[in-house]
Amino acid sequence: MPKKQRKILVTSALPYVNGSPHMGHLVEYIQTDIWVRFQKLREHNCIYVCASDAHGTPIMLKARELGITPEQLTAGYSKEFVDDFNDFGIEFDNFHTTHSPENEAVVGTIYSALRESGDIYTRTIEQSYDEKEGMFLPDRFVRGTCPRCKTEDQYGDACENCGATYSPEDLIDPVSVLSGTTPVKRESEHYFFKLSEYEERLRTWMSDATLDKNMVSKLEEWFEAGLQDWDISRDAPYFGFQIPGTEDKYFYVWLDAPVGYIASFRNLCDRDSSLNFDDYWGKDSDAEVYHFIGKDIMYFHTLFWPAVLQGAGFRTPTSVFAHGFLTVNGQKMSKSRGTFIKARTYLDNLEPEFLRYYYAAKLGPTIEDIDLNLEDFVARVNSDLVGKLVNIASRCAGFISKRFNGRLADSLPDPELFAEFSDASESIAEHYERREYSKAMRQIMALADKANRYIDENKPWVVIKDDSKGAEVQQVCTQGLNLFRSLMVYLTPVIPTVAAGARAFLGEDSWNWRDASTPLLGSQISKFKPLLTRVEIDQVQRMAEQSRESTSVPNDEKNDKPDDDTISIDDFIKVDLRIARIEKAEPVEGADKLLALTLNVGDTTRNVFAGIKAAYDPGTLVGRHVVVVANLAPRKMRFGVSEGMVLAAGPGGEDIFLLVPDDGAKPGMRVK
Ligand code: MSP
Ligand code: ZN
Repeated sequence: MPKKQRKILVTSALPYVNGSPHMGHLVEYIQTDIWVRFQKLREHNCIYVCASDAHGTPIMLKARELGITPEQLTAGYSKEFVDDFNDFGIEFDNFHTTHSPENEAVVGTIYSALRESGDIYTRTIEQSYDEKEGMFLPDRFVRGTCPRCKTEDQYGDACENCGATYSPEDLIDPVSVLSGTTPVKRESEHYFFKLSEYEERLRTWMSDATLDKNMVSKLEEWFEAGLQDWDISRDAPYFGFQIPGTEDKYFYVWLDAPVGYIASFRNLCDRDSSLNFDDYWGKDSDAEVYHFIGKDIMYFHTLFWPAVLQGAGFRTPTSVFAHGFLTVNGQKMSKSRGTFIKARTYLDNLEPEFLRYYYAAKLGPTIEDIDLNLEDFVARVNSDLVGKLVNIASRCAGFISKRFNGRLADSLPDPELFAEFSDASESIAEHYERREYSKAMRQIMALADKANRYIDENKPWVVIKDDSKGAEVQQVCTQGLNLFRSLMVYLTPVIPTVAAGARAFLGEDSWNWRDASTPLLGSQISKFKPLLTRVEIDQVQRMAEQSRESTSVPNDEKNDKPDDDTISIDDFIKVDLRIARIEKAEPVEGADKLLALTLNVGDTTRNVFAGIKAAYDPGTLVGRHVVVVANLAPRKMRFGVSEGMVLAAGPGGEDIFLLVPDDGAKPGMRVK
């Protein structure tokens, strides 16, 4: 146990469940998960809760469009989030939903407390109304011509051309996105929260919460502009919680969404009797509460949320940590460029912990955007994780298992070097604590370089040849493995599965942060299995192609069958054309047209039957390069299974011409 065990509650923003998780979302959940795992490794009592954000107009309308209930829609996407989070090693203590009885209850408590404290009042406002659809229109559901620069087809809240902000009533020729009809103005009574009276209290909270300086200047800007009261109600039809005492008014989704943090925790308390709800959320709570969010939702978390909590008599968050947005290859994620990558598409192609490491290597504590550059990603994880880190172990492990029965030496030959690794502990910990992950990764990799240099200098592979120096090799390798072990402890929050593999290899059951400072000596280790293999650029390219495929065509277009024999570009992209080298070519007994080819397609060999016997003498084919369809499903033929198809042109018989790639082609190379 550490000197003082902290009691910490951590949240990530509750994702809207009207679409699939993507690489942008993962920035936040990976950032938070690393921090939580770090705290747990430091033996603090840290709880991580989240939930799906299930309410609001977009969800209601999407469900309507698909002919299902909002509950069905959100259940489906919630499952996607839960599965993907799980596969990325994001470990919540609880994942709940805002559409839950717990949330409705807490929202009710907060609302009545706010009414009692005089923070709620009603006022009649005028809004755009779609008579055909029978509903009030949120700003984004009205489009028209910008009143300032006259650009057509702009949203009801802001112009994308000149940046003007306005309300939908100001648009010239407004139309409802839902029905295409012209909206009318209609009055309705709304419920407001008196945010304008909270400036002083929010200023106090702001300085106590030691927020990032970018966030502070944003808040200053908002204070300067003057805080406006907040409209917390929406008219029916709306998917959300009904406001008690009304017939057709609902709480705006942004009122009940952050309450979902509390409700998810409540739900956890109901299952875990060791937890006391008030210890965390009561006014006198001594627990630390942190919200991790993206920079786009700061207003809600640094103004509305602390004000609502104060008004309702709950404790306020200790701090709010905001991160920037993800760009891919330096640009906004784009479906047409294949850079709008779903979490699942990544998982289908690549190791989750590579992404965790890459994000960690890029993340700092500020709202600066972070870039996923796909080439840099490949280079970085190969060089750092495979080349530097895992390499330390693979250079030492073999000698220990083969020559010393897997037993580590009883002492370290270079205790000063080990002390250097152990002394780094507090500085690395501080970087994690402050969310300076990129600094932590840099420090760890600099130590990995040192460890490799140590092995280079002591050359166990040379020393082992001298029979009298066996003990020295055992010591050098024990030193190397202990340096590796300390670094793996430090990296456990970032690459937990790889670290667990390393721990098992070293024969240990569990690690905490302090283990990095005590060497492992005289114990038995297992046979070393590679913990990670290199990423190939091909895997990344395939992921980009699949992203183009799975997201470029909107659903409604997909259902339109082409009326001729053409295939779409998406169909064509699915064909994986590769260079193959013919390793073997043999006639097939009983088949007069076929040759059985053994092809080298880079990483694999395939057996393919090709009907080219009349055109080619098998003897002349060996060593030649051809183009092959590499992702054709294997087909069972009379003579065996064919695992691909070789491309050729010509009318047939003797006139068949294999497609022969240019010089310089290598097996496995992609053709398109
Ligand atoms: N439902 C709200 C949050 C309610 S919290 C009480 C919401 N949902 S979201 O699904 O749109 O976003 C969830 C989180 O992911 C947010 O913190 C958001 O900033 C983050 N990200 C979504 N897209 C992102 C990127 N492209 N890049 C980085 N983070 C992004 O907002
Ligand atoms: Zn404009």
